[in-house]
Amino acid sequence: MKYLLLGIFGAVLAQTAPRADVTGRWAAETHLPNGTTRQTVIALKADGEKLTGYMSTRQEADEISEGKVNGSDISFDIVRNDFGEERRTHYTGTISGDELRLQMPGSGGRPGRELVAKRVSSEAAQPLPAPPLKITLPPLEDVPSNGLARTPPMGWNSWNKFRNKVSDQVVREIADAMASNGMKDAGYMYVNIDDTWEGTRDEQGNIRSNEKFPDMKALAEYVHSKGLRLGIYSSPGPKTCAGYEGTFKHEEQDAKTFAAWGIDYLKYDWCSAREVYDYHSLPAVYGIMGRALLNSGRPIVFSLCEYGRLNVGNWGARAGGNLWRTTGDIRDTWASMSSIGFDQQIGLEKFAGPGHWNDPDMLEIGNGGMSDTEYRTHMSLWSLLAAPLLAGNDLRSMTPDIREILTNKEVIAIDQDSLGQEATRVSKIGGVEVWARSLADGGHAVGLFNRGPETAKVTARWSDLGLSGSHKVRDLWAHADRGEATGEYSAEVPSHGVVLVKIAR
Ligand code: GLA
Repeated sequence: MKYLLLGIFGAVLAQTAPRADVTGRWAAETHLPNGTTRQTVIALKADGEKLTGYMSTRQEADEISEGKVNGSDISFDIVRNDFGEERRTHYTGTISGDELRLQMPGSGGRPGRELVAKRVSSEAAQPLPAPPLKITLPPLEDVPSNGLARTPPMGWNSWNKFRNKVSDQVVREIADAMASNGMKDAGYMYVNIDDTWEGTRDEQGNIRSNEKFPDMKALAEYVHSKGLRLGIYSSPGPKTCAGYEGTFKHEEQDAKTFAAWGIDYLKYDWCSAREVYDYHSLPAVYGIMGRALLNSGRPIVFSLCEYGRLNVGNWGARAGGNLWRTTGDIRDTWASMSSIGFDQQIGLEKFAGPGHWNDPDMLEIGNGGMSDTEYRTHMSLWSLLAAPLLAGNDLRSMTPDIREILTNKEVIAIDQDSLGQEATRVSKIGGVEVWARSLADGGHAVGLFNRGPETAKVTARWSDLGLSGSHKVRDLWAHADRGEATGEYSAEVPSHGVVLVKIAR
Protein backbone atom coordinates (compact mmCIF):
# COMPACT_ATOMS: atom_id res chain seq x y z
CA MET A 1 0.00 0.00 0.00
CA LYS A 2 2.77 2.40 1.07
CA TYR A 3 4.63 1.75 -2.18
CA LEU A 4 1.44 2.04 -4.19
CA LEU A 5 0.74 5.50 -2.67
CA LEU A 6 4.32 6.61 -3.25
CA GLY A 7 4.09 5.36 -6.80
CA ILE A 8 0.87 7.32 -7.45
CA PHE A 9 2.37 10.41 -5.83
CA GLY A 10 5.45 10.05 -7.99
CA ALA A 11 3.36 9.62 -11.13
CA VAL A 12 1.32 12.75 -10.33
CA LEU A 13 4.52 14.71 -9.73
CA ALA A 14 5.97 13.51 -12.99
CA GLN A 15 2.78 14.56 -14.73
CA THR A 16 2.69 18.07 -13.32
CA ALA A 17 6.34 18.75 -14.05
CA PRO A 18 7.58 16.44 -16.75
CA ARG A 19 11.14 17.40 -17.46
CA ALA A 20 11.51 18.01 -21.18
CA ASP A 21 14.63 17.02 -23.02
CA VAL A 22 16.16 20.48 -23.00
CA THR A 23 19.80 19.76 -23.69
CA GLY A 24 20.75 20.24 -27.34
CA ARG A 25 21.08 22.69 -30.20
CA TRP A 26 18.05 24.41 -31.68
CA ALA A 27 17.91 26.47 -34.85
CA ALA A 28 15.36 28.83 -36.40
CA GLU A 29 15.30 30.84 -39.59
CA THR A 30 13.73 34.28 -39.60
CA HIS A 31 12.84 35.93 -42.89
CA LEU A 32 13.56 39.64 -42.58
CA PRO A 33 11.56 42.30 -44.43
CA ASN A 34 14.72 43.17 -46.37
CA GLY A 35 14.61 39.80 -48.10
CA THR A 36 17.47 38.23 -46.15
CA THR A 37 17.26 35.32 -43.75
CA ARG A 38 18.70 35.30 -40.27
CA GLN A 39 19.56 32.07 -38.49
CA THR A 40 19.28 31.95 -34.73
CA VAL A 41 20.97 29.08 -32.91
CA ILE A 42 20.22 28.29 -29.29
CA ALA A 43 22.56 25.82 -27.59
CA LEU A 44 21.42 24.57 -24.19
CA LYS A 45 22.62 22.34 -21.42
CA ALA A 46 20.28 21.41 -18.58
CA ASP A 47 21.71 20.36 -15.24
CA GLY A 48 18.73 19.68 -12.98
CA GLU A 49 16.89 22.99 -12.91
CA LYS A 50 19.92 24.94 -14.01
CA LEU A 51 20.25 25.95 -17.63
CA THR A 52 23.42 27.14 -19.35
CA GLY A 53 24.38 27.72 -22.98
CA TYR A 54 24.22 30.51 -25.53
CA MET A 55 22.15 32.07 -28.25
CA SER A 56 23.70 33.27 -31.49
CA THR A 57 22.60 35.18 -34.55
CA ARG A 58 24.64 36.32 -37.58
CA GLN A 59 25.82 39.33 -35.62
CA GLU A 60 26.73 37.95 -32.24
CA ALA A 61 26.77 35.04 -29.81
CA ASP A 62 25.73 35.67 -26.23
CA GLU A 63 26.03 33.43 -23.23
CA ILE A 64 22.78 32.97 -21.31
CA SER A 65 22.55 33.79 -17.64
CA GLU A 66 20.00 33.05 -14.88
CA GLY A 67 18.90 30.04 -16.96
CA LYS A 68 16.18 27.85 -15.42
CA VAL A 69 14.32 24.70 -16.43
CA ASN A 70 10.87 24.04 -15.03
CA GLY A 71 9.36 20.96 -16.62
CA SER A 72 9.00 21.84 -20.26
CA ASP A 73 9.37 25.58 -19.63
CA ILE A 74 12.67 27.37 -19.78
CA SER A 75 13.74 30.93 -19.02
CA PHE A 76 16.99 32.83 -19.24
CA ASP A 77 18.47 36.30 -19.55
CA ILE A 78 20.88 37.64 -22.11
CA VAL A 79 22.98 40.49 -20.80
CA ARG A 80 24.63 42.60 -23.47
CA ASN A 81 27.24 45.21 -22.89
CA ASP A 82 25.82 47.58 -25.42
CA PHE A 83 28.39 50.30 -25.96
CA GLY A 84 29.12 50.58 -22.28
CA GLU A 85 25.51 50.27 -21.13
CA GLU A 86 24.26 46.99 -19.70
CA ARG A 87 21.10 45.77 -21.44
CA ARG A 88 19.33 42.73 -19.98
CA THR A 89 16.68 40.85 -21.96
CA HIS A 90 14.52 38.13 -20.43
CA TYR A 91 13.44 35.17 -22.56
CA THR A 92 10.90 32.45 -21.81
CA GLY A 93 10.20 29.37 -23.84
CA THR A 94 8.48 26.02 -23.99
CA ILE A 95 9.86 22.79 -25.33
CA SER A 96 7.72 20.14 -26.83
CA GLY A 97 9.51 17.21 -28.43
CA ASP A 98 11.92 18.64 -30.98
CA GLU A 99 10.37 22.09 -31.00
CA LEU A 100 11.39 25.09 -28.90
CA ARG A 101 9.01 28.04 -28.88
CA LEU A 102 10.88 31.07 -27.57
CA GLN A 103 9.15 34.34 -26.71
CA MET A 104 11.32 37.15 -28.04
CA PRO A 105 10.48 40.42 -26.23
CA GLY A 106 9.94 43.55 -28.32
CA SER A 107 12.12 46.62 -28.04
CA GLY A 108 11.95 50.28 -29.01
CA GLY A 109 8.22 50.17 -29.77
CA ARG A 110 8.66 46.96 -31.79
CA PRO A 111 6.25 44.19 -30.74
CA GLY A 112 7.57 40.93 -29.33
CA ARG A 113 7.37 37.73 -31.36
CA GLU A 114 7.60 33.99 -31.06
CA LEU A 115 10.62 32.19 -32.47
CA VAL A 116 9.98 28.56 -33.38
CA ALA A 117 13.25 26.62 -33.36
CA LYS A 118 13.82 22.98 -34.28
CA ARG A 119 16.23 20.64 -32.55
CA VAL A 120 19.26 20.07 -34.76
CA SER A 121 21.31 18.02 -32.31
CA SER A 122 21.11 16.60 -28.81
CA GLU A 123 24.65 17.51 -27.88
CA ALA A 124 25.12 19.66 -24.79
CA ALA A 125 26.16 23.28 -25.37
CA GLN A 126 29.90 23.76 -25.05
CA PRO A 127 31.18 26.90 -23.34
CA LEU A 128 31.49 29.81 -25.80
CA PRO A 129 35.02 30.31 -27.12
CA ALA A 130 36.63 33.58 -25.99
CA PRO A 131 35.73 36.38 -28.42
CA PRO A 132 38.51 37.36 -30.85
CA LEU A 133 40.56 40.37 -29.83
CA LYS A 134 39.21 43.57 -31.31
CA ILE A 135 41.08 46.43 -32.94
CA THR A 136 41.73 49.42 -30.70
CA LEU A 137 42.46 52.64 -32.57
CA PRO A 138 44.21 55.75 -31.23
CA PRO A 139 41.71 58.43 -30.15
CA LEU A 140 39.85 60.43 -32.78
CA GLU A 141 41.89 63.22 -34.32
CA ASP A 142 39.71 66.13 -35.37
CA VAL A 143 38.78 66.07 -39.05
CA PRO A 144 38.47 69.56 -40.56
CA SER A 145 34.95 70.55 -41.63
CA ASN A 146 34.03 69.86 -45.27
CA GLY A 147 31.89 73.00 -45.30
CA LEU A 148 28.83 71.10 -46.59
CA ALA A 149 25.22 70.83 -45.36
CA ARG A 150 24.87 74.38 -44.06
CA THR A 151 21.18 73.52 -43.76
CA PRO A 152 19.86 69.99 -43.07
CA PRO A 153 20.23 67.75 -46.17
CA MET A 154 17.04 67.15 -48.14
CA GLY A 155 16.37 64.31 -50.53
CA TRP A 156 15.21 60.72 -50.69
CA ASN A 157 16.56 57.39 -49.44
CA SER A 158 15.65 53.94 -50.73
CA TRP A 159 15.60 51.95 -47.49
CA ASN A 160 12.23 52.63 -45.86
CA LYS A 161 10.21 51.67 -48.93
CA PHE A 162 12.40 49.54 -51.18
CA ARG A 163 14.76 47.67 -48.84
CA ASN A 164 16.74 45.22 -51.05
CA LYS A 165 14.51 45.96 -54.06
CA VAL A 166 16.38 49.17 -54.89
CA SER A 167 17.95 49.10 -58.36
CA ASP A 168 19.41 51.34 -61.05
CA GLN A 169 15.97 51.57 -62.64
CA VAL A 170 14.23 52.51 -59.39
CA VAL A 171 16.83 55.21 -58.71
CA ARG A 172 16.47 56.68 -62.21
CA GLU A 173 12.70 56.69 -61.95
CA ILE A 174 12.82 58.29 -58.52
CA ALA A 175 15.17 60.97 -59.88
CA ASP A 176 12.76 61.57 -62.79
CA ALA A 177 9.85 61.88 -60.37
CA MET A 178 11.74 64.12 -57.98
CA ALA A 179 12.78 66.48 -60.78
CA SER A 180 9.27 66.80 -62.16
CA ASN A 181 6.73 66.46 -59.33
CA GLY A 182 7.60 69.50 -57.22
CA MET A 183 10.01 67.75 -54.84
CA LYS A 184 13.13 69.26 -56.42
CA ASP A 185 11.46 72.68 -56.50
CA ALA A 186 10.73 72.32 -52.80
CA GLY A 187 14.45 71.70 -52.09
CA TYR A 188 14.85 67.91 -52.21
CA MET A 189 18.25 67.27 -53.78
CA TYR A 190 19.93 63.99 -52.76
CA VAL A 191 18.83 60.65 -54.21
CA ASN A 192 20.38 58.19 -51.78
CA ILE A 193 20.93 54.50 -52.44
CA ASP A 194 20.89 52.62 -49.13
CA ASP A 195 22.13 49.09 -48.43
CA THR A 196 22.12 46.19 -50.94
CA TRP A 197 23.85 47.83 -53.95
CA GLU A 198 27.23 46.25 -53.10
CA GLY A 199 28.91 43.56 -55.16
CA THR A 200 32.32 41.97 -54.64
CA ARG A 201 35.80 43.50 -54.84
CA ASP A 202 38.04 43.08 -57.87
CA GLU A 203 41.61 41.77 -57.62
CA GLN A 204 42.91 45.21 -56.64
CA GLY A 205 40.31 45.40 -53.90
CA ASN A 206 38.09 47.93 -55.67
CA ILE A 207 34.46 47.68 -54.65
CA ARG A 208 32.01 46.91 -57.46
CA SER A 209 28.27 47.32 -57.53
CA ASN A 210 26.13 44.21 -57.95
CA GLU A 211 23.91 43.22 -60.89
CA LYS A 212 21.12 45.59 -59.75
CA PHE A 213 23.47 48.51 -60.51
CA PRO A 214 25.29 47.79 -63.79
CA ASP A 215 27.10 51.13 -63.98
CA MET A 216 27.24 53.42 -60.97
CA LYS A 217 29.12 56.19 -62.80
CA ALA A 218 26.50 56.30 -65.54
CA LEU A 219 23.78 56.37 -62.89
CA ALA A 220 25.45 59.31 -61.15
CA GLU A 221 25.70 61.13 -64.47
CA TYR A 222 22.00 60.53 -65.05
CA VAL A 223 21.02 61.81 -61.61
CA HIS A 224 23.30 64.84 -62.04
CA SER A 225 21.71 65.55 -65.42
CA LYS A 226 18.43 66.08 -63.56
CA GLY A 227 20.08 68.71 -61.36
CA LEU A 228 20.12 66.26 -58.43
CA ARG A 229 22.84 64.54 -56.42
CA LEU A 230 23.54 60.87 -55.77
CA GLY A 231 24.16 59.29 -52.37
CA ILE A 232 25.44 55.85 -51.42
CA TYR A 233 25.79 53.64 -48.35
CA SER A 234 28.50 51.54 -46.71
CA SER A 235 29.66 50.22 -43.37
CA PRO A 236 33.01 50.53 -41.56
CA GLY A 237 32.76 46.81 -40.78
CA PRO A 238 33.45 43.83 -43.04
CA LYS A 239 29.73 43.54 -43.81
CA THR A 240 26.86 46.00 -44.06
CA CYS A 241 23.74 45.63 -41.96
CA ALA A 242 22.07 43.56 -44.69
CA GLY A 243 25.18 41.37 -44.96
CA TYR A 244 26.75 42.86 -48.12
CA GLU A 245 30.41 43.84 -48.63
CA GLY A 246 31.52 46.59 -46.22
CA THR A 247 34.39 49.08 -46.33
CA PHE A 248 36.59 47.54 -43.57
CA LYS A 249 40.28 48.14 -44.43
CA HIS A 250 39.34 49.82 -47.73
CA GLU A 251 38.42 53.28 -46.46
CA GLU A 252 40.71 55.43 -48.66
CA GLN A 253 40.08 53.19 -51.64
CA ASP A 254 36.28 53.24 -51.32
CA ALA A 255 36.21 57.00 -50.75
CA LYS A 256 38.19 57.42 -54.00
CA THR A 257 35.89 54.99 -55.84
CA PHE A 258 32.80 56.84 -54.63
CA ALA A 259 34.35 60.15 -55.71
CA ALA A 260 35.26 58.69 -59.12
CA TRP A 261 31.68 57.48 -59.59
CA GLY A 262 30.41 60.98 -58.82
CA ILE A 263 28.87 60.21 -55.42
CA ASP A 264 27.81 63.25 -53.37
CA TYR A 265 26.72 61.72 -50.04
CA LEU A 266 27.74 58.72 -47.95
CA LYS A 267 25.74 57.07 -45.19
CA TYR A 268 28.15 54.99 -43.12
CA ASP A 269 26.45 52.39 -40.97
CA TRP A 270 28.16 50.79 -37.94
CA CYS A 271 26.61 47.27 -37.85
CA SER A 272 29.30 44.58 -38.19
CA ALA A 273 32.07 47.02 -37.23
CA ARG A 274 31.23 46.06 -33.65
CA GLU A 275 32.68 42.63 -34.36
CA VAL A 276 36.10 43.96 -35.35
CA TYR A 277 36.58 47.19 -33.38
CA ASP A 278 36.70 47.82 -29.68
CA TYR A 279 33.66 50.02 -29.07
CA HIS A 280 35.68 52.92 -27.65
CA SER A 281 37.28 53.14 -31.09
CA LEU A 282 33.94 53.98 -32.71
CA PRO A 283 34.61 57.75 -33.05
CA ALA A 284 38.08 57.10 -34.50
CA VAL A 285 36.60 54.59 -36.97
CA TYR A 286 34.27 57.31 -38.26
CA GLY A 287 37.13 59.80 -38.29
CA ILE A 288 39.07 57.56 -40.70
CA MET A 289 36.27 57.75 -43.22
CA GLY A 290 35.66 61.45 -42.57
CA ARG A 291 39.27 62.13 -43.51
CA ALA A 292 39.19 59.72 -46.46
CA LEU A 293 36.17 61.55 -47.89
CA LEU A 294 37.89 64.87 -47.39
CA ASN A 295 40.91 63.55 -49.31
CA SER A 296 38.77 62.01 -52.04
CA GLY A 297 38.80 65.14 -54.16
CA ARG A 298 35.00 65.46 -54.23
CA PRO A 299 32.66 67.21 -51.80
CA ILE A 300 30.77 64.33 -50.15
CA VAL A 301 28.26 64.82 -47.33
CA PHE A 302 29.11 62.41 -44.51
CA SER A 303 26.18 60.80 -42.68
CA LEU A 304 27.00 58.81 -39.53
CA CYS A 305 24.71 55.93 -38.75
CA GLU A 306 25.55 54.43 -35.38
CA TYR A 307 22.19 54.89 -33.71
CA GLY A 308 23.34 57.63 -31.32
CA ARG A 309 25.88 55.47 -29.51
CA LEU A 310 28.60 57.00 -27.34
CA ASN A 311 26.88 60.40 -27.26
CA VAL A 312 27.65 60.96 -30.92
CA GLY A 313 26.66 64.65 -30.71
CA ASN A 314 29.83 65.25 -28.70
CA TRP A 315 32.17 64.06 -31.45
CA GLY A 316 30.17 63.50 -34.68
CA ALA A 317 31.25 66.81 -36.23
CA ARG A 318 34.85 66.24 -35.11
CA ALA A 319 34.82 62.96 -37.08
CA GLY A 320 33.85 64.95 -40.18
CA GLY A 321 30.15 64.11 -39.88
CA ASN A 322 27.51 66.42 -41.32
CA LEU A 323 24.71 64.47 -39.65
CA TRP A 324 24.40 61.55 -37.28
CA ARG A 325 21.59 59.23 -36.39
CA THR A 326 20.40 59.71 -32.84
CA THR A 327 18.30 56.55 -32.45
CA GLY A 328 17.57 53.06 -33.76
CA ASP A 329 15.59 52.56 -36.95
CA ILE A 330 12.29 54.34 -37.50
CA ARG A 331 9.24 52.33 -38.56
CA ASP A 332 6.09 53.51 -40.27
CA THR A 333 3.97 53.60 -37.11
CA TRP A 334 2.78 56.34 -34.80
CA ALA A 335 4.43 54.59 -31.83
CA SER A 336 7.85 54.50 -33.48
CA MET A 337 7.74 57.96 -35.06
CA SER A 338 6.37 59.73 -31.99
CA SER A 339 8.76 58.02 -29.61
CA ILE A 340 11.77 58.93 -31.77
CA GLY A 341 10.60 62.46 -32.54
CA PHE A 342 9.20 63.59 -29.20
CA ASP A 343 10.96 61.48 -26.59
CA GLN A 344 14.37 60.56 -27.92
CA GLN A 345 15.61 63.97 -29.09
CA ILE A 346 15.33 65.80 -25.79
CA GLY A 347 18.55 67.57 -24.87
CA LEU A 348 20.25 67.00 -28.22
CA GLU A 349 19.54 70.46 -29.65
CA LYS A 350 22.88 71.79 -28.46
CA PHE A 351 24.67 69.58 -31.00
CA ALA A 352 22.83 70.86 -34.09
CA GLY A 353 23.89 73.78 -36.25
CA PRO A 354 25.00 74.69 -39.77
CA GLY A 355 27.09 71.80 -41.12
CA HIS A 356 26.27 69.27 -38.38
CA TRP A 357 22.80 67.93 -37.63
CA ASN A 358 21.02 65.43 -35.43
CA ASP A 359 19.34 62.79 -37.58
CA PRO A 360 16.22 61.19 -36.09
CA ASP A 361 16.10 58.93 -39.19
CA MET A 362 14.40 59.12 -42.57
CA LEU A 363 10.81 60.10 -43.21
CA GLU A 364 8.04 57.50 -43.40
CA ILE A 365 5.56 59.99 -44.87
CA GLY A 366 3.48 58.28 -47.55
CA ASN A 367 4.38 54.69 -46.70
CA GLY A 368 0.88 53.92 -45.47
CA GLY A 369 1.30 53.07 -41.79
CA MET A 370 0.10 56.43 -40.42
CA SER A 371 -2.75 58.81 -41.16
CA ASP A 372 -2.18 62.07 -43.03
CA THR A 373 -2.71 63.88 -39.71
CA GLU A 374 0.12 61.82 -38.21
CA TYR A 375 2.32 62.41 -41.25
CA ARG A 376 1.81 66.18 -40.86
CA THR A 377 2.98 65.78 -37.27
CA HIS A 378 6.00 63.81 -38.54
CA MET A 379 6.87 66.56 -41.06
CA SER A 380 6.30 69.38 -38.55
CA LEU A 381 8.34 67.75 -35.82
CA TRP A 382 11.26 66.89 -38.11
CA SER A 383 11.25 70.49 -39.40
CA LEU A 384 11.25 71.91 -35.90
CA LEU A 385 14.10 69.51 -35.05
CA ALA A 386 16.17 70.83 -37.98
CA ALA A 387 16.32 67.21 -39.09
CA PRO A 388 17.47 66.01 -42.48
CA LEU A 389 14.38 65.64 -44.67
CA LEU A 390 14.94 62.40 -46.55
CA ALA A 391 11.68 61.17 -48.00
CA GLY A 392 11.35 57.39 -47.72
CA ASN A 393 8.32 56.71 -49.89
CA ASP A 394 7.77 55.85 -53.54
CA LEU A 395 7.94 59.29 -55.14
CA ARG A 396 6.70 57.86 -58.46
CA SER A 397 3.23 57.14 -57.17
CA MET A 398 2.40 59.33 -54.16
CA THR A 399 -1.05 60.81 -53.64
CA PRO A 400 -1.54 64.57 -53.98
CA ASP A 401 -2.12 64.77 -50.21
CA ILE A 402 1.23 63.14 -49.46
CA ARG A 403 2.97 65.34 -52.02
CA GLU A 404 1.46 68.39 -50.35
CA ILE A 405 2.75 67.28 -46.96
CA LEU A 406 6.28 66.68 -48.27
CA THR A 407 6.45 69.86 -50.34
CA ASN A 408 4.87 72.42 -48.01
CA LYS A 409 7.33 75.25 -48.55
CA GLU A 410 6.35 77.16 -45.43
CA VAL A 411 7.12 74.11 -43.29
CA ILE A 412 10.33 73.32 -45.18
CA ALA A 413 11.46 76.92 -44.60
CA ILE A 414 11.39 76.17 -40.86
CA ASP A 415 13.57 73.09 -41.33
CA GLN A 416 15.97 74.99 -43.59
CA ASP A 417 16.12 78.17 -41.52
CA SER A 418 19.67 79.53 -41.77
CA LEU A 419 20.07 80.00 -38.01
CA GLY A 420 20.05 76.22 -37.73
CA GLN A 421 18.70 76.27 -34.20
CA GLU A 422 16.95 73.03 -33.31
CA ALA A 423 13.67 73.29 -31.40
CA THR A 424 13.19 72.40 -27.76
CA ARG A 425 10.09 71.27 -25.94
CA VAL A 426 8.92 74.33 -24.04
CA SER A 427 5.92 72.76 -22.33
CA LYS A 428 4.25 69.42 -21.79
CA ILE A 429 0.97 68.74 -20.07
CA GLY A 430 0.03 65.09 -20.44
CA GLY A 431 -0.06 64.35 -24.14
CA VAL A 432 -0.09 68.01 -25.10
CA GLU A 433 3.32 69.40 -26.05
CA VAL A 434 4.62 72.72 -27.38
CA TRP A 435 7.91 72.76 -29.28
CA ALA A 436 9.60 75.94 -30.49
CA ARG A 437 12.67 77.18 -32.29
CA SER A 438 14.04 80.65 -32.95
CA LEU A 439 14.41 81.69 -36.58
CA ALA A 440 17.01 83.80 -38.35
CA ASP A 441 14.52 86.67 -38.90
CA GLY A 442 13.82 86.96 -35.18
CA GLY A 443 10.54 85.05 -35.41
CA HIS A 444 9.65 81.72 -33.79
CA ALA A 445 8.34 78.47 -35.23
CA VAL A 446 6.00 76.83 -32.77
CA GLY A 447 4.40 73.39 -32.93
CA LEU A 448 1.26 72.80 -30.88
CA PHE A 449 1.10 69.01 -30.67
CA ASN A 450 -1.52 66.66 -29.31
CA ARG A 451 -0.30 63.11 -28.70
CA GLY A 452 -3.49 62.18 -26.87
CA PRO A 453 -6.51 60.20 -28.09
CA GLU A 454 -9.02 63.12 -28.20
CA THR A 455 -9.02 66.59 -29.70
CA ALA A 456 -7.43 68.99 -27.22
CA LYS A 457 -6.83 72.69 -26.80
CA VAL A 458 -3.12 73.46 -26.91
CA THR A 459 -1.68 76.79 -25.76
CA ALA A 460 1.71 78.31 -26.50
CA ARG A 461 2.49 80.87 -23.81
CA TRP A 462 4.72 83.81 -24.71
CA SER A 463 6.44 83.43 -21.35
CA ASP A 464 7.56 79.92 -22.36
CA LEU A 465 8.91 81.31 -25.63
CA GLY A 466 10.76 84.28 -24.17
CA LEU A 467 8.29 86.69 -25.81
CA SER A 468 6.02 89.46 -24.62
CA GLY A 469 3.44 91.78 -26.13
CA SER A 470 1.56 91.22 -29.32
CA HIS A 471 2.78 89.20 -32.34
CA LYS A 472 1.46 88.22 -35.75
CA VAL A 473 0.66 84.51 -36.09
CA ARG A 474 0.60 82.50 -39.31
CA ASP A 475 -0.64 78.91 -39.62
CA LEU A 476 1.84 77.04 -41.84
CA TRP A 477 -0.43 74.11 -42.76
CA ALA A 478 -3.56 76.22 -43.36
CA HIS A 479 -1.40 78.80 -45.18
CA ALA A 480 -3.41 81.44 -43.36
CA ASP A 481 -2.68 84.51 -41.21
CA ARG A 482 -4.29 84.27 -37.79
CA GLY A 483 -4.01 87.95 -36.85
CA GLU A 484 -2.21 89.27 -33.79
CA ALA A 485 -2.04 87.38 -30.52
CA THR A 486 -1.12 88.77 -27.12
CA GLY A 487 0.45 86.73 -24.33
CA GLU A 488 -0.37 83.35 -25.85
CA TYR A 489 -1.78 81.50 -28.83
CA SER A 490 -4.20 78.57 -28.56
CA ALA A 491 -5.63 76.12 -31.05
CA GLU A 492 -7.85 73.05 -31.05
CA VAL A 493 -5.62 70.20 -32.20
CA PRO A 494 -6.94 66.80 -33.31
CA SER A 495 -5.63 63.57 -31.77
CA HIS A 496 -2.05 62.89 -33.01
CA GLY A 497 -2.18 66.19 -34.86
CA VAL A 498 -0.36 69.49 -34.89
CA VAL A 499 -0.97 73.17 -35.49
CA LEU A 500 2.31 74.61 -36.70
CA VAL A 501 2.60 78.37 -36.58
CA LYS A 502 5.15 81.04 -37.19
CA ILE A 503 5.11 83.85 -34.65
CA ALA A 504 6.58 87.01 -36.13
CA ARG A 505 9.21 88.95 -34.19
C1 GLA B 1 20.48 49.86 -40.52
C2 GLA B 1 20.19 51.36 -40.69
C3 GLA B 1 19.02 51.54 -41.63
C4 GLA B 1 19.36 50.91 -42.98
C5 GLA B 1 19.73 49.44 -42.79
C6 GLA B 1 20.26 48.83 -44.07
O1 GLA B 1 19.43 49.20 -39.90
O2 GLA B 1 19.93 51.94 -39.45
O3 GLA B 1 18.73 52.90 -41.80
O4 GLA B 1 20.43 51.60 -43.56
O5 GLA B 1 20.72 49.27 -41.79
O6 GLA B 1 20.67 47.50 -43.91
